[in-house]
Amino acid sequence: MKLSRWFRPDNPVLSEAGADDAPAISQLHGTSFRRGWSEDECERLLLERNVLAHRVTIADQLVGFVMSRLFAPEAEILSIAVAAAQRRHGLARRLLDLHLQRLGELGARTVFLEVDEGNEAARRLYGRFGFNNVGRRPGYYPQSGTAGSAALVLRRDVA
Ligand SMILES: CC(C)(COP(=O)(O)OP(=O)(O)OC[C@H]1O[C@@H](n2cnc3c(N)ncnc32)[C@H](O)[C@@H]1OP(=O)(O)O)[C@@H](O)C(=O)NCCC(=O)NCCS
Repeated sequence: MKLSRWFRPDNPVLSEAGADDAPAISQLHGTSFRRGWSEDECERLLLERNVLAHRVTIADQLVGFVMSRLFAPEAEILSIAVAAAQRRHGLARRLLDLHLQRLGELGARTVFLEVDEGNEAARRLYGRFGFNNVGRRPGYYPQSGTAGSAALVLRRDVA
């Protein structure tokens, strides 16, 4: 089999993210969520000792990331997003697989996150990974003109 088959430039590549990724992560976050993260905010997070982030790139362009804060034995997923044009290709699943494995290696035993109750895609994604609903915070995500939508608190044990 030809080696070039494995090195196609459009193959997704997963790796740890660092402060250099702040501009691309800020940009993707801004197009994926109502409340954006500035480049400075992203950079500060990525420089925190307790923050772990992974990215997926295609042809050297960042098209997805996941970021957590770890205070072993607990970790909290702060954000995950995949660029709209690359969704439904299994990239979030691959990112989460790698990320949860690495969190486990770093001492996490329980992982928490908050998800908008109306975010069907994310809820299904987390459901596939065995996250369970352990709480609900009404009106957590502000929306102009309405009471805001609820956040669900999800939890999963790491093997
Ligand atoms: C949620 C998100 C990260 C999923 O990324 P993705 O790369 O498209 O997800 P995957 O292709 O890996 O899908 C994995 C599973 O998630 C679920 N899923 C993903 N997108 C879905 C959608 N639009 N509708 C229903 N289920 C969906 C499915 O169960 C899917 O498995 P399947 O394709 O075998 O059915 C992406 O939609 C996104 O960036 N959304 C905006 C940001 C966001 O809401 N992040 C979550 C914050 S808590």
